Amino acid sequence: MKKNNTGYETYERRLKRHEEELRWLYMELYGNDSMYAELCDGMRRFYEERGTDLKEQDAYRESRPDWYRKNDMLGMMFYIDNFAGNMKGVQSRLDYIERCGVNYVHLMPFLDTPKGRSDGGYAVSDFRKVQETLGTMEDLQELTAACHKKGINVCMDFVMNHTSEDHEWAVKARQGDGEYMSRYFFYDNASIPSEYEKTVPQVFPTTAPGNFTWLPEIGHYVMTTFYPYQWDLNYKNPRVFNEMMYNFLFLANQGIDIIRIDAVPYIWKELGTQCRNLLQVHTIVRMMRMISEIVCPGILLLGEVVMEPEKVVPYFGTVEKPECHMLYNVTTMATTWHTVATRDVRLLKKQLDIVSALPKDYVFLNYLRCHDDIGWGLDYLTLGQEGLGEVSHKKYLNDYFRGYTGGSNSRGELYNEDLITGDARFCGTTASMCGVERAGFEQNEEMMDAAIRLDLMLHAYMFMQSGIPVLYSGDEIGQVNDYTYKENPDKAADSRYLHRGAMNWELVKNIEIPESVQGRIFGGLRQLEQIREKEKAFMTNADMWTIETWEKEVLCIGRCFEGEKIIGLFNFSEHDKTAWINETDGTYLDLISGKEKKAVGVDIPAYGFYYLKRIGD
Ligand code: GLC
Repeated sequence: MKKNNTGYETYERRLKRHEEELRWLYMELYGNDSMYAELCDGMRRFYEERGTDLKEQDAYRESRPDWYRKNDMLGMMFYIDNFAGNMKGVQSRLDYIERCGVNYVHLMPFLDTPKGRSDGGYAVSDFRKVQETLGTMEDLQELTAACHKKGINVCMDFVMNHTSEDHEWAVKARQGDGEYMSRYFFYDNASIPSEYEKTVPQVFPTTAPGNFTWLPEIGHYVMTTFYPYQWDLNYKNPRVFNEMMYNFLFLANQGIDIIRIDAVPYIWKELGTQCRNLLQVHTIVRMMRMISEIVCPGILLLGEVVMEPEKVVPYFGTVEKPECHMLYNVTTMATTWHTVATRDVRLLKKQLDIVSALPKDYVFLNYLRCHDDIGWGLDYLTLGQEGLGEVSHKKYLNDYFRGYTGGSNSRGELYNEDLITGDARFCGTTASMCGVERAGFEQNEEMMDAAIRLDLMLHAYMFMQSGIPVLYSGDEIGQVNDYTYKENPDKAADSRYLHRGAMNWELVKNIEIPESVQGRIFGGLRQLEQIREKEKAFMTNADMWTIETWEKEVLCIGRCFEGEKIIGLFNFSEHDKTAWINETDGTYLDLISGKEKKAVGVDIPAYGFYYLKRIGD
């Protein structure tokens, strides 16, 4: 990579902008001058080491802060080995990624992690080393450079809440080295851990119960919010913060465009609290934002906050003091599947109204599913008014998506069923949850047709939301659940592997056959993506609102930007329906068929949708 040691004025200007606030927050948290000075030296060093191309990109993006807030971003996420074997394999598949219209790839965790104790790579043992089977840091640099040539942004996970128990620090801590023990949470008896357990909920109640792990060899408990081999880092120690910021900048310098801050709400712990979303978490994220704006302003921070809207939104920070650039639209995602199972759009409409009322500079990542399970985090207060109880409704959803009830053709499995509370989350690919798997198995063409229609309708609806849509690789060809994880002892206990199957490149060949399952889904998505990219009404900061259809199975969303208006109609039912809308403000064009259509009392076939654009008075 080319190096550039000049450009200090630029650096000084960026530093000056944030210096006072950064110092203030650092002192508030750590009150440690010399560690702050060390951090400043570190930032400067990473700036010096940053490649010229990346610095040029930084300057470009800094002058166009809206560069990621348009209608042309489309994401795709995948595990490198599942997608193409290794990093070089991914590089050789960039043409396919381009053909999918994707310009943002999320490379799922690829840093060094112990085999069999990796949590899908979320237990990092070396933040500066790529897993040997996937390649090297040089391969990563080459891959990011090749992506940039094609205009593709690269996202990676920054797993900052914990390290693997095999990380150098953890190894030293386990040997009883106090300096390293202080980077984690160690206790020589159960009294404080049991105090924590009184207030801290469990992330993996079945696969990894409790928040502490006993280490008999040194007679200590260590805090492990996730799996026992993922040791929580102690951010009260400024050494931890500084070193993790150096790791973050090191990774940014490999050409990463988007840093996904994994499990961010958990990074600060305080006895007597839930250890989630504490104020200090926001101080840390704000400092990260400033550090990135000083050293590498071209990168974006994506926060992983899988919680209800009131808890997600604060991670955007404020206009003057922003934190994350982007956050996941998680409640909308879960509410979407609730709507599929109930054919009742009311809760989704309410949820979309909440999101559309938020400031337009907030950028959400929209998705139908990701590598994780779907947790049923819905607005139970509202559902309660309809007589739906939380426990029974979750049971209904889990039964529905396993194909047991409600006329469902879905297939999937439960995740972390809590036998005490009766709670469980859900795993499955989009296509399997839409019925593609069952229809294929039963060779039922009519069922397959309905499944594909539902799958495309859900994508069309997802693209209508404000923000950046992200596909999970394989969803673009309707890939179904992969049950082979059960034969792998390293994976068998974690049903999330059900929807993390390897890309089936044989099936990809079928995209050339328009009437095949893959051809229909791929072709259908391409058409939607092209419309989205072309039409201004899909701009992230367009106005968005919902429209009453007087038919509880049909959702209607309106979007308008600079006078260009599009309305989307989505039928969540397996029956033909009529949307009783009355948009008489002009003539409308059906963007899919290219024919004129009145936006009044619109008939919509089962699982059908329309994008209607106003074309004249
Ligand atoms: C995030 C990841 C998830 C992982 C957890 C612990 O939630 O998405 O896959 O298990 O963090 O790192």
